[in-house]
Amino acid sequence: MESSRTSRRDVLRWAAVSAGSLALSQLAGAVRAADDPAATTTTNKPFTFALISDTHLGRNGNAPAKQMRQAVEEINASPAELVVFTGDLVNAGEVDANEKHYPEWLDIAGGWKKPWHAVPGNHDPVAKFTKHIRAETDYVIDAPSSPHRFVFFRDALPNPEHQGAVLDEQLKWLQSQIDAAAKDKRRAFLVSHVIYHKNAHPDVGWMIRDNREAFADFLKQNARQIDAFFAGHFHSGLRGWDDTFGIHEIVLPSACWNFDGKRLRGAPGYTFEEDRPGWVLAEVRGPGQIKLSYKPIGADVSVVKELERS
Ligand SMILES: [Fe+2]
Repeated sequence: MESSRTSRRDVLRWAAVSAGSLALSQLAGAVRAADDPAATTTTNKPFTFALISDTHLGRNGNAPAKQMRQAVEEINASPAELVVFTGDLVNAGEVDANEKHYPEWLDIAGGWKKPWHAVPGNHDPVAKFTKHIRAETDYVIDAPSSPHRFVFFRDALPNPEHQGAVLDEQLKWLQSQIDAAAKDKRRAFLVSHVIYHKNAHPDVGWMIRDNREAFADFLKQNARQIDAFFAGHFHSGLRGWDDTFGIHEIVLPSACWNFDGKRLRGAPGYTFEEDRPGWVLAEVRGPGQIKLSYKPIGADVSVVKELERS
């Protein structure tokens, strides 16, 4: 039961979830203000952010850049307060001729009106990511109005590899960030390119492979603090599971191209027959309670998935 997995403070913070969004917004703001005497603002609505992945700039011409520009406009027109990008900014970034697409990506991302944060994918060599996009690949973001700490970390092994790896030093760092978030009364969202889930056939089986057992221990020990793990890499539309210690594992659609969504019909977890390039709006309604809206680029929201913490 959820009540056994949350602290009393969590319960207070999210107590109005069942009473509807208006009551939630009122109580969440009131509780936050009561918790923090220094707080000068209140939260009037659930925290909302955009998730976008796998833009693959340079793949077969200018279409990916055009799609990313449109996604930037759409996200700017949405209620998203933060933009989270889960890797593969550029297609085959390891090819020197493609390095020019990193400044291009940065230029397009500069159009976002709200803060954006990214991790590299297997197509993004660390040296090029840190040169053009961001100096570090592992970092945390505490958005002022978000009850969650976003913990970004690089786990994608470089092309032609498709699996993920987490180093012992990263595990220590991840644990320290989860602990610090807990002291700050925040739960956590993990953000990387390669998911943990052992997504066997008919999925592709791309997962955190190296140091897998240690990473599993980390997830298990912190399952009460980690509400969701967001990743990209699959190009399978919106995909996810909740059978990893109760943590939502969510794989995002590519904003560039996706495989046929029908191929995963009947596979464990959830998936949809929607494979148009798109992005996802996430609305956090409580601990582990997240509404995901799949927004195909240039079209209306076609899929809505409401997640609950088991
Ligand atoms: Fe990709």
